[in-house]
Amino acid sequence: MCQSNPEPMAQNVSVKPGTIDTKKSYTKFERMMFMNKKYKVAIVGATGLVGRTILKVLEEKNFQNVEYTLFASEKSAGKKIEFLGTNYIVCKLEENSFDSGFDFAIFSAGGSTALKYAPIAASKGCVVIDNSSAFRMKSDVPLIVPEVNKEKIFENKGIIANPNCSTIQAVLPLKVLDDKYKIKRIVYSTYQAVSGAGKKGLEDLESGENGKFYNNCVPQIDVFLDDGYTKEEHKMIDETRKILDKPDLLITATAARVPVMNCHSESINIEFETEVDVYEAKMLLQNTDGIILTDDIDNNIYPLARKVDGYNEVFVGRVRRDFSVRNGLNLWVVADNLRKGAATNAVQILEVLINH
Ligand code: A2P
Repeated sequence: MCQSNPEPMAQNVSVKPGTIDTKKSYTKFERMMFMNKKYKVAIVGATGLVGRTILKVLEEKNFQNVEYTLFASEKSAGKKIEFLGTNYIVCKLEENSFDSGFDFAIFSAGGSTALKYAPIAASKGCVVIDNSSAFRMKSDVPLIVPEVNKEKIFENKGIIANPNCSTIQAVLPLKVLDDKYKIKRIVYSTYQAVSGAGKKGLEDLESGENGKFYNNCVPQIDVFLDDGYTKEEHKMIDETRKILDKPDLLITATAARVPVMNCHSESINIEFETEVDVYEAKMLLQNTDGIILTDDIDNNIYPLARKVDGYNEVFVGRVRRDFSVRNGLNLWVVADNLRKGAATNAVQILEVLINH
């Protein structure tokens, strides 16, 4: 069986008498620390754009007591990836890959890989955090943005879904505003970076005039469905309803790809049930974990894709009334789609699991 971690597995070490307060209740992470046991975590799709970003975020988090194994397709088997100051060997993902007892796995290898391997991993006791859309709308799979619905993580039955990138960055401001003013209707218009389409998207933009995205704005992300919406637009609508736990919320969306390398920008128009105060809304947004309010129009300051690149937070600006309806508000929301829209959110879920 492939072992990509160059360091040997730590053996369980018995706890020294007197080091644990038997009356205190310890977290699982603390108990693992006492036993010097390492969590085994698989990163599936480690060679991809999101996979590489997951590795960066994990390096920044620098979890102790976690041992990683990196997986990708046969094509990458044996490749070396520098991670945590050393070289890791990429393992080929196989049906028996989870036999060696993984605690957790982050999958970022597309829907078909997830559909095949995530249930196998879960059946072996590994909790999977999956980045694809394969399981997101399944009723027994929690769809998690930790700042919004962290408590649902523990309802998992072996698979937890990471939402669509455009949805993740939207629901942070929406949740705090919904708690205060009760959202009635949302109109999404997105301006999405090519990195959202993986390596292929970046290569397309880099190929210049020969590509689809150069000097263009393409109102199609993913395939068209029977109702004339794209699958991406449906993801935004359906996933927002699930995460906010408002199955009947009125939402419409137009998702477009723009020639920006990284970071999705979104215009979000919201109608509320109750009166909204712009200053108060800004204060609520400013005081929300994971949001950075960037809104100073006197100095032409608002969130910009180029500036947000590399950040884990969601940036919100252009907060203003929509005077065309009774209780309307407009927002401009930008986030690094590879980080908060994918890798960071998945690693945050992992962090909740290992600290539990
Ligand atoms: P590989 O690089 O070996 O093809 P991106 O979306 O940026 O192209 O990344 C997709 C990721 O999913 C890559 O790491 C890719 O590995 C991985 N992947 C694709 N198919 C499989 C598969 N069948 N098994 C494991 N990993 C896969």
